[in-house]
Amino acid sequence: MCGIVGYIGKQAVIPVLVEGLKKLEYRGYDSAGVAVLEEKGIEVYKSAGRLANLVEKLGDGYSDATIGIGHTRWATHGRPSDLNAHPHSDCSGDFAIVHNGIIENYLELKEWLIKQGHQIVSETDTEVLPHLVEHFYKGDTAEAIRQVLIKVHGSFAMVALSRNHKEQMVVARKDSPLVIGLGEGEYFVASDIPAILNYTRQIYILADGEIAVIDRDGVRVTDFQGNPIQKEVFEVKWDTVAAEKDGYEHFMLKEIFEQPRALKDTLTGRLNHNGVILPEVALTAEEVANINKIFIVACGTAWHAGLVGKTLIERWARIPVEVDIASEFRYRSPLIDEHTLVVVISQSGETADTLAALREARRLSARVIAVTNVVSSSVAREANDVIYTCAGPEIAVASTKAYTTQLEGMVLLALYLAEARDSLSLEKISEIISALKEIPAQAQEILNQSSAIKDLARSFIVVDDVFFIGRSLDWSVSMEGSLKLKEISYIHAEAYAAGELKHGTLALITDNTPVIALATQMEVYEKTVSNIKEVKARDAKVIGLTFKGNDDLAKSVDQVIYIPQTIAELSPILSVIPLQLLAYYASVARGCDVDKPRNLAKSVTVE
Ligand code: F6R
Repeated sequence: MCGIVGYIGKQAVIPVLVEGLKKLEYRGYDSAGVAVLEEKGIEVYKSAGRLANLVEKLGDGYSDATIGIGHTRWATHGRPSDLNAHPHSDCSGDFAIVHNGIIENYLELKEWLIKQGHQIVSETDTEVLPHLVEHFYKGDTAEAIRQVLIKVHGSFAMVALSRNHKEQMVVARKDSPLVIGLGEGEYFVASDIPAILNYTRQIYILADGEIAVIDRDGVRVTDFQGNPIQKEVFEVKWDTVAAEKDGYEHFMLKEIFEQPRALKDTLTGRLNHNGVILPEVALTAEEVANINKIFIVACGTAWHAGLVGKTLIERWARIPVEVDIASEFRYRSPLIDEHTLVVVISQSGETADTLAALREARRLSARVIAVTNVVSSSVAREANDVIYTCAGPEIAVASTKAYTTQLEGMVLLALYLAEARDSLSLEKISEIISALKEIPAQAQEILNQSSAIKDLARSFIVVDDVFFIGRSLDWSVSMEGSLKLKEISYIHAEAYAAGELKHGTLALITDNTPVIALATQMEVYEKTVSNIKEVKARDAKVIGLTFKGNDDLAKSVDQVIYIPQTIAELSPILSVIPLQLLAYYASVARGCDVDKPRNLAKSVTVE
């Protein structure tokens, strides 16, 4: 996804911008650019492809400008190219603007601008912004931007430079994240906190509908009407080292190995002998009793965590749950009222569809609980209650530790609801709590055997198709295993409810087709084994996954991956780990760009 950086201070601006953009590379991008304010005017440098191309273009003789803006672009309107890269300028070259988000009515605005005599040179939606600013400018950039914002529909985080105000940056935000870093006589702007963490931990989080004018003396924030706003300083507590690779070859591997810690942190302070402690969810027992339906809404991996959540909540709290893909949710007129609980799950807390679903749910008067990893993210700020996962920053595009901690979030929530409704016996609750406490160490046990999975992944160098099968919660985990494999190794992978294969897909199973069969749900174990036999009879190569101590599965499959014993409901947290490792090692073996898979972005902040 696009990334924004900006700087005004005493340092030469270009190295600050380039370093900030490097920190945002994990978001995914296809081109990059910077604009700096020189004595003679605004200089713009842009390049398609990797940041290294831009750095080459900038050369060694950096300008000594001390104010500038930068951008990494992930194409939405117009293909990746030098011309479409940001920053974009107006006809006179008086303004340069970087922008995240989408200007939905840009075609109409473009047509209007052309009629006014403006020359639009790129295919982007963004380029209308500097031309509109040029049109409305009467000596005050912030005022011109206010006028522009009345005209544009859509989402944006934008930063503008003006040749007429060499000591000033103007930023604005609606539906796209933007923070302002406060240094000693210097100020930073970024779409994501890691971009500026090397310089400052004191930030203002710009809210929707706010504009800030930043000069060398400070930051003045107003709303879109120009009314002053007093901002509170937010102290970022993240450890910068937590955002580095820490000796691992890739962020993804580091994040897979961080799971024991992340799983432990997410449980810390939330369990006692009799149940869960979740003061952050402020529902009364009466409100919980009145919930007649729950929707879980999320995208991708977070949606897969929601599928597990459904089973847990229905099984333990006996409340009906529907799980929706966020991009579909608000277009299908969901039946929501004040007795509906909506749970949104989002690692980043900025996914556009999830945020829109949250807003729709609130509009329809549902109570919304967010499960998210990013403190003060949009989702966290807009939900009624927030359960934070404590995974720490997730940099690799493929989600790993966010997923397993989201699963813990689902377990905690399901238990919380069950306790409030008195739908589980004390013995059952204490059995779950004891099993939960074992999970971080059991995750470590699996990671200690990662070399066996690495060996197994070598056989994936040449395969074209892989099938994942399982029943009940094993099916939900199969979906996540399949997504992990396809997104980073580019192997075609599909997940099926094991009993469903024979209704069509079995036709695709031939000699040595790899089938990964999850068999941890002992309630349906015999049935899963029957399905495994069906694929084995078609000469598939079957890799089974089950609990240690179950020697039976080895009789029906070619190879078995064992995970430590736990209760059925917690097994997804463990069974996914070998699948993450398999996807990772297969991707490395196939020479793929593990942390930045093609066409994908870490945080999808456009619809
Ligand atoms: C896949 C992956 C994505 C995200 C999805 C939602 O590995 O990471 O499928 O899970 O884009 O992102 P968040 O959780 O940030 O809303």
